[in-house]
Amino acid sequence: MAREKWGSQTGFWLAAIGSAVGLGSIWRFPYAMGGSGGLFLLIYLGAVILFGLPIFMAELAIGKKTKQGPVGAYREIAEGNYGKRMGIFQIITSLVIMSFYSLIGGYCIIYIFKIGGLAGNIIDLAAAQNLFDRISGNFWLSFWGMFVFLAISCATVVVGVKGIEKLNKYLMPALFLILFVLSINSLTLPGAAKGINFLFSFNTESFGIHCILTAIGQACFSLSIGIGVLVLFGSYCSDNNMGILKSSVIVIGADTIVSIMSAIVIFPTFFSFTNTSPSLGGLELAFMALPMVFAKMFCGALVAISFFILLLIAATASAVSLIELPVAYLMDSYGWKRWKASFCVFAVILIGGIPSIYSKSFLKGIDYFASNWMLLGCVLLLCLFLRRYWDKIGISQIIEEETGSTILASIVSFLIRYFVPIVIIALVFSNIF
Ligand code: PHE
Repeated sequence: MAREKWGSQTGFWLAAIGSAVGLGSIWRFPYAMGGSGGLFLLIYLGAVILFGLPIFMAELAIGKKTKQGPVGAYREIAEGNYGKRMGIFQIITSLVIMSFYSLIGGYCIIYIFKIGGLAGNIIDLAAAQNLFDRISGNFWLSFWGMFVFLAISCATVVVGVKGIEKLNKYLMPALFLILFVLSINSLTLPGAAKGINFLFSFNTESFGIHCILTAIGQACFSLSIGIGVLVLFGSYCSDNNMGILKSSVIVIGADTIVSIMSAIVIFPTFFSFTNTSPSLGGLELAFMALPMVFAKMFCGALVAISFFILLLIAATASAVSLIELPVAYLMDSYGWKRWKASFCVFAVILIGGIPSIYSKSFLKGIDYFASNWMLLGCVLLLCLFLRRYWDKIGISQIIEEETGSTILASIVSFLIRYFVPIVIIALVFSNIF
């Protein structure tokens, strides 16, 4: 059967932006930032350029070269079992990420139904906290929210990703537009300056290895790198419709703008309504700040509902790319039918998510572990793999042919083969000792 292809270059960009932009930028970014403000932002931007860009390009190059999903691609490139083991570790990571990602997606669904009637009442932090506690403290409500989110995502995987390409065409611009309106709105709130100040000033007190680790982990999480999603997406590109550098810059740029806009919506709002530090907001930060901003807006209920619907769709597009990895593996390696593989993945993630529904500290712990340690583990394994097979994959040639720049190819090669692995290994050691 001929391999599926993206309809156009823009279709590919939008699908890649759809995978990148999700709960990571809107829910996780401000929460990961915690109390570190501008310092976090700076390290994050550094990580996006030094980690994100080269790895994004390398993953696309592997997909473009092999025209196969991750496990097949690694197997084709590498002798022995290294490629297969790395692929399986990536799949396990995607399942662990999905176990909490789908719970947060479920919260979005619940908010869509609850927020309309309540929008005008969320006038202070206590009301916002109360709403979140009532939802997250109700086991069955959270369970069904997660169930529905997973069912929608898995059903999309069963149908195929072509629909998502079309859907993203309209929804991504709509999400940008709403975020833009919200940012302007939150900037006009009284006390907003404090939030902006926090966002761009260096708070060295909360700086430490933890801050560096979280910023790098967040960059990898938000850009969807390290676990093979971009290998898969690159494999659906026909040779003439993808410039690796141009595509990477566009997708990474869009995702970074969304993350910064979300922070501009959330921090000024938080400061405007409360005097506590946003680090106290924890993982419910976005779920508390957003309803407060909606409460003060003209047509707040309507904006609130549309926002959570868009967020849900953005989250679904990301979840689909995470679910597609294990599903594609089961189909390719064991010949399973798409629906059977999707159903099993659905069941595994649902069961895996139960401890997170029970305990918020478990949710926080598993998020921290998977998004930082497991994801960075994937990135490290990938770099070591790329280091060994650099010439065989011909990444430098691909970059040179495309950009005409040997310097750029050498910089990418240096970053992937030396800089990124050394930084990750240093982080591991500094955490152990
Ligand atoms: N980037 C997605 C988000 O920000 C999450 C994701 C991580 C998707 C890894 C695919 C791979 O929500």
